[in-house]
Amino acid sequence: MKRRGFVQRLPVLTAGLAAGASAALIGGCASAPYVVPQRTPRGLSLRASELGPDGDAFVQAPGMERPVYVRRHASGSLTAVLASCTHQGCQPEPVGNRLECPCHGSQFSFEGEVLAGPADRPLTRYEVTETDGEIVVLLPGGAR
Ligand code: FES
Repeated sequence: MKRRGFVQRLPVLTAGLAAGASAALIGGCASAPYVVPQRTPRGLSLRASELGPDGDAFVQAPGMERPVYVRRHASGSLTAVLASCTHQGCQPEPVGNRLECPCHGSQFSFEGEVLAGPADRPLTRYEVTETDGEIVVLLPGGAR
């Protein structure tokens, strides 16, 4: 391609590169799906099939300030933690094998233990059960 043709096509080429970069960024930022659970007398109920491809989901019923992050582990067991950073309340997101807070960088295990500060307290953890494909996050005092 001659210089003139290249310069004339430059806007098209850069738009294509930008679109490709955006798609790569979006693809690299995939997060857990959000699930609206059923409220039960014991807590929050969802179907196991509603977990995302990584075996996790943010479970958030209307009125909840922050979701509960539910994660299935390689062993098949489940954990559930309140996705509210104990530093200043931002929402941690799953990154690799941990939860990371986007505000100041605290890191937590999927069980809620602090891996790196500034947070110095674990995430609130909930008991979780699974029966016949139904996952229930047990909330103290039941679903409110
Ligand atoms: S609010 Fe999470 S690290 Fe500050």
